[in-house]
Amino acid sequence: MTTAATGRRIVLVGPPASGKGTQAKILVERLGVPQVSTGDMLRAARAAGTPLGKEAERFMTAGKLVPDDVVIGLVGERLRQEDARQGFILDGFPRTEAQSEALDRLLESLGQELDHVVQIDVPRALLVERATLRRADVRTGQIYHLKYNPPPSDAVLEHRDDDREDKVATRLDLYEALTAALLPYYEKRGLLRRIDGTGSPNEVTKRLLEALGI
Ligand code: AP5
Repeated sequence: MTTAATGRRIVLVGPPASGKGTQAKILVERLGVPQVSTGDMLRAARAAGTPLGKEAERFMTAGKLVPDDVVIGLVGERLRQEDARQGFILDGFPRTEAQSEALDRLLESLGQELDHVVQIDVPRALLVERATLRRADVRTGQIYHLKYNPPPSDAVLEHRDDDREDKVATRLDLYEALTAALLPYYEKRGLLRRIDGTGSPNEVTKRLLEALGI
């Protein structure tokens, strides 16, 4: 096994429903490194009814951010696992300055460095449509979209409680207020790539791979 992981420590940043999860899954296949999605980890903890999941629940349901120490702890544990040593696709983390600083400290302690931070840009009106019409099949975890990627007729669909329009607005506002403010830091470090997240998922993937130099 090699120890080099050039180009495979990637952060996907983008507002809610910009397509981070959709694209992260494609990169996982392509690069052979795990997706580390704080949203997925928190939803799993919530479904399992763990103390952490119970603590996170009220924030998630309201469309608000879960406290920094909770998500920082989760990501720290996950990135220390063997399968993340060769790289990772961080999806939905960091989202605040404290998380960004904690990520720097964590990677330094692991002797690792980020390779790319990719910002996925999508206009707000389209984000609302993508979020409110998103559905997941509870049996397979597969994500669909009622307009752009309709589910099969036998799917058992779930509508995320934070994908209701009022919660989506709260999440978008928080992204603009807290997460977008991190981008100049990554730009200064020469890590930031920006891609247009509109168009079909395949078109976005093409832009993403180009931005990553793959
Ligand atoms: P999280 O799950 O991370 O939510 P998010 O960032 O709001 O992102 P989404 O999962 O909504 O969207 P996505 O960008 O992955 O888009 P997707 O590919 O699914 O977090 C949820 C909550 O957990 C937060 O609100 C917070 O409470 C908590 N949390 C998580 N991380 C945290 C952190 N670091 N700190 C604090 N709290 C945290 O696509 C969306 C839809 O569009 C799908 O239906 C998809 O099929 C469709 N679609 C995707 N791409 C396209 C395309 N190109 N064309 C047409 N449709 C498309």
